[in-house]
Amino acid sequence: MPSLHLALILLSATVMALQNPGAQVSIAGWHLQSTHAVTGDLAAWSLPHANVSKWYRISRPATVLGGLLESNVYNETYLFYSDHLSGVSKPDFSVPWLYREEFSLSPFLAEQYLLLKTHGISSKADIFFNGIQIASSDIQKGSYAGYTYDLTRHVLVGQNALLIKAYPTSYRDDFALGWVDWNPHPPDSGTGVWRNVELKLTGPVSISSPRITTNFTSNQSASPVEVTVKTDIQNYGDSSVDVTIRGSIHSPDSAKTLDFSQLVHLPARTNSTVSLNATIKDPQIWWPATWGAQPLYNVSLNASLPSGAVTDVAPLTNFGIRHVVSALNSHNDVAFTVNGHPFHVRGAGYAPDIFLRFDIKRLENIFQYVLDIGLNTVRLEGKQEHSELYDLADRMGLMVIAGWECCDKWEAWAYNDDSPGTKWQNQDYAIAHASMLHEAEMMQPHPSLLAFLVGSDYWPDERATDLYLSALRSMDWPNPVIASASMRGHPSQLPPSGMKMDGPYDWVPPNYWYGDSLGAAFGFGSEQGAGVGTPELSSLKKFLSDADLKTLWSSPNAGQYHLAPENGVFHTRKIFNNALAKRYGPAKTLEEYVFKAQVMDYEATRAEFEAFAARQNATRPATGVVYWMLNSAWPSLHWQLFDYYLQPAGAFFGAKVGARKEHVAFDYESRSVYLINHSLKSTGTRYITVDLIASNGTQLLHHEVTTETAPLASKEVLQIPEIATLLTAKTIGFLRLILSGTSPEPLSRNVYWLPAQNDVLDWDNSEWYTTPVTTFADFTALSALKPATVVASATALVDDAAQESGLTSVEVTLENHSDIPAFFIRLAIVDPKTREEIAPVFWDDNYVTLFPREKVRLVVVVREGSQWVVTMRVGGGKEQDVKPK
Ligand SMILES: *[C@@H]1O[C@H](CO)[C@@H](O)[C@H](O)[C@H]1NC(C)=O
Ligand SMILES: *[C@@H]1O[C@H](CO)[C@@H](O)[C@H](O)[C@H]1NC(C)=O
Ligand SMILES: *[C@@H]1O[C@H](CO)[C@@H](O)[C@H](O)[C@H]1NC(C)=O
Ligand SMILES: *[C@@H]1O[C@H](CO)[C@@H](O)[C@H](O)[C@H]1NC(C)=O
Ligand SMILES: *[C@@H]1O[C@H](CO)[C@@H](O)[C@H](O)[C@H]1NC(C)=O
Ligand SMILES: *[C@@H]1O[C@H](CO)[C@@H](O)[C@H](O)[C@H]1NC(C)=O
Ligand SMILES: *[C@@H]1O[C@H](CO)[C@@H](O)[C@H](O)[C@H]1NC(C)=O
Ligand SMILES: *[C@@H]1O[C@H](CO)[C@@H](O)[C@H](O)[C@H]1NC(C)=O
Ligand SMILES: *[C@@H]1O[C@H](CO)[C@@H](O)[C@H](O)[C@H]1NC(C)=O
Repeated sequence: MPSLHLALILLSATVMALQNPGAQVSIAGWHLQSTHAVTGDLAAWSLPHANVSKWYRISRPATVLGGLLESNVYNETYLFYSDHLSGVSKPDFSVPWLYREEFSLSPFLAEQYLLLKTHGISSKADIFFNGIQIASSDIQKGSYAGYTYDLTRHVLVGQNALLIKAYPTSYRDDFALGWVDWNPHPPDSGTGVWRNVELKLTGPVSISSPRITTNFTSNQSASPVEVTVKTDIQNYGDSSVDVTIRGSIHSPDSAKTLDFSQLVHLPARTNSTVSLNATIKDPQIWWPATWGAQPLYNVSLNASLPSGAVTDVAPLTNFGIRHVVSALNSHNDVAFTVNGHPFHVRGAGYAPDIFLRFDIKRLENIFQYVLDIGLNTVRLEGKQEHSELYDLADRMGLMVIAGWECCDKWEAWAYNDDSPGTKWQNQDYAIAHASMLHEAEMMQPHPSLLAFLVGSDYWPDERATDLYLSALRSMDWPNPVIASASMRGHPSQLPPSGMKMDGPYDWVPPNYWYGDSLGAAFGFGSEQGAGVGTPELSSLKKFLSDADLKTLWSSPNAGQYHLAPENGVFHTRKIFNNALAKRYGPAKTLEEYVFKAQVMDYEATRAEFEAFAARQNATRPATGVVYWMLNSAWPSLHWQLFDYYLQPAGAFFGAKVGARKEHVAFDYESRSVYLINHSLKSTGTRYITVDLIASNGTQLLHHEVTTETAPLASKEVLQIPEIATLLTAKTIGFLRLILSGTSPEPLSRNVYWLPAQNDVLDWDNSEWYTTPVTTFADFTALSALKPATVVASATALVDDAAQESGLTSVEVTLENHSDIPAFFIRLAIVDPKTREEIAPVFWDDNYVTLFPREKVRLVVVVREGSQWVVTMRVGGGKEQDVKPK
């Protein structure tokens, strides 16, 4: 007979109900206070009924500063403005902070256990429950280390209290989430209960989240797929027990349910792993978004006792049937395949919020932008976020490269003197192991995972690699594991990464990408770009003071607080600003500077993605590129494709043109035109027209090419060496490439402004972050361009599907009534009352350049605001409202 335990129903002050075994709830809110403000024994503060009327109240997990923002101690608008963040020193972040919550539990008679689950606390914590310390910071250590503690013996009938003492984080000493040169560091270093803390009620036998693997290896969807579901079971009781594990797999359309079960004998106080198989006869395959649909199966699983009583229920878990492989090609570059097809990675580096505040709606907008740009992957450099991120990526068909971070404790192995972290000691290996176990368990079933990088700038030493690999194996990790994001070295258990980390991170000219060394388009670039991502003026004014704005354009070498921290090479926009002045002429106003910056940003991102696309199946293929970076942790002046307020600008639309699924691109170096196809199936005849005009509108060249397109391939279709002679010093030309298939709407329309002579790169004097230019391209003639007359109109589109989902679509037609080109037309959509730009905003194209007499039709979709006004700015001219039709 199992002995009788006190067991519980959680009636709860907060929203929770833990009535049946298997029920699990997250602590919904916390009282937060500094240890400075609290006197007396901490254990006593973890007794019920302590007086916390002087404590802050937060409604979700948060870092200390995140919590203080929620409690209105700080104001985000204020904190993000100018250098205000640098003045934050109070309250004291050098002392531990307390997170406390009470809940009520009622007893009932059965053999049940109350478990506490953590998912990482920054960076370490003591945990008290009802006056007893149940965990110490020697164990609960590391921002990603999750543990389960048995609270059962300490449960009180009625009110219970949980208290977590979170110790201040040091990026040098602790396994945390650091920022290096991304942005200023948060004053609290991200300390606190940043992830959920859960209470779980279980019977004598608990079961873990299921881990799911399949034997699917290719895109042969016709044959059956064997699904293996594994779960860890643990007997908390003092008697052995025969437990039945029962599960069901629901098909994505809920048409079918596959049931399976297994009886397991489990001795007292032991654990075991159970593995169950089910065969899916007509599997529905999960695809990355550009290639197909995202059918998701789900698995439910529970364990029951001989009496029939359920002892635990696993969280319902989604999975997708798909297969990811990575391999080194003959050039030792890594190449991925998904479902048997070469997967050309077009990615960008993701940044969480500077205070680690997680907002699923904001994340959905960010991921929608990723897909809208035409990218297929995000890289999380040591910022693994919350499990909801992976659910969202699964549903949206976005691939995720996860991994550990560089440049602090995470890479401070004995061999690595480049890391500023304190060298790993014995205990650190245990934290790293626990972190890997936890993150692998969280990510395991998600079809969106492309790879886990166990190192970033450097590779783990042998002992760390052993532990990482054993953790991944014990979590049935089904995806590639890669030694690092660079080629500096690798541990003996893993092959070379095949990923290059050779820069650039700061400005380089567009023809850089068509070179043949460093970050140019060959192999796999794990983090690289021209550093661009200048917000438009509407956003800049939200976070820069008048003085900052003045500095931005008039002091090209000055530091900016909204860049990397001081003393780093990315604290100024010096390299970019020098190139801007040399290529486009020095800006004489803020408006002119921002306009020219957008032009530079657009050129930079378009060329990077185009070059990697054009060479996707070259002799040495460009197998993938991760733009550094996608977004920023706070309002920033660099390394982003859209700004913190979710406004897209030049960098966004350059990337969006460059990453088009079917596209036609110009190689600045070889002066040739490439046809690009990222689709899985599109074939057939394609028509390409090529026109070059002078800035006065005179036609200089016209070509038409008819060719066949092939999936997942690119090819050169035309050489136009005569461009070199058609453009003379000080003149510029406009090159328009149009790609069409059978339908009248072109598949791609792409306009370049070309100098007589390209920028000249000094490759031999490259730094890790840039390659210098000895002679700059001369675009100063653009400033002499006469303003073209552009007639625009905007009409609301009645789109039933869009309206039902709360979307507003507007069609904008632009017609150039002049005989000269209309350069770089920026469209925006604003709220008519506040004149604020609406975001997020999905333009099919923007910053377009029209040829003489040319007419284009653009569509914009917004999610919020049914009232709108479209505004237009031609070149560096004045913004004007577009008349609604
Ligand atoms: C809690 O403390 C506050 C002041 O610190 C006091 O005003 C309040 O009466 C106390 N509440 C209880 C229930 O003791
Ligand atoms: C935050 O500060 C801004 C300006 O400094 C102000 O407009 C806004 O109302 C403040 N918000 C809150 C919630 O106090
Ligand atoms: C379950 O499926 C896996 C993968 O196909 C296979 O290796 C294993 O032998 C199967 N086990 C059983 C019991 O059928
Ligand atoms: C996977 O397992 C199923 C069922 O056992 C089998 O029919 C199928 O051929 C296997 N597929 C592969 C690729 O081994
Ligand atoms: C699990 O799958 C079934 C069948 O498709 C569906 O009805 C149910 O909503 C799914 N549950 C979740 C939480 O997605
Ligand atoms: C499972 O049992 C083994 C010893 O048999 C122990 O080392 C391990 O920590 C247990 N696992 C868990 C999750 O309790
Ligand atoms: C996947 O399917 C395509 C055709 O749809 C075929 O060309 C390709 O060879 C298949 N790949 C594998 C690995 O089966
Ligand atoms: C890339 O693929 C295209 C289309 O199949 C082909 O014409 C071209 O020769 C390939 N490039 C190389 C370098 O093999
Ligand atoms: C227009 O520019 C071209 C190329 O610079 C030049 O040859 C031509 O004379 C110009 N035409 C006029 C009317 O200025």
